[in-house]
Amino acid sequence: MGDVPPGTLLAVQAGERWYALVNVDGALHAVDNNCPHNGGPLSKGTLDGQTVICPWHAWRWDVTSGRNCAPGVDWRLPRIPVRVLEDGSIQLPII
Ligand code: FES
Repeated sequence: MGDVPPGTLLAVQAGERWYALVNVDGALHAVDNNCPHNGGPLSKGTLDGQTVICPWHAWRWDVTSGRNCAPGVDWRLPRIPVRVLEDGSIQLPII
């Protein structure tokens, strides 16, 4: 977890897919790295609490639920579970 301190994001690969690994107050979340709007790299975005802001058009996504933050927008980011092992290493499922 040292590579992803609280309040930061990091691009990580699991199998052939890339994810944005996000540390929200010590809890890790992994969401698809490609923004559903137009494919912006969410790991290059900024984090506002539990919300990642896409670097391309500033759409906001709640990484704890995957939901888009705009009222009336029912889009979701794919999320996968994150497992932190005793040695601090991180495992993501390959899907
Ligand atoms: S590609 Fe992310 S907001 Fe447009």
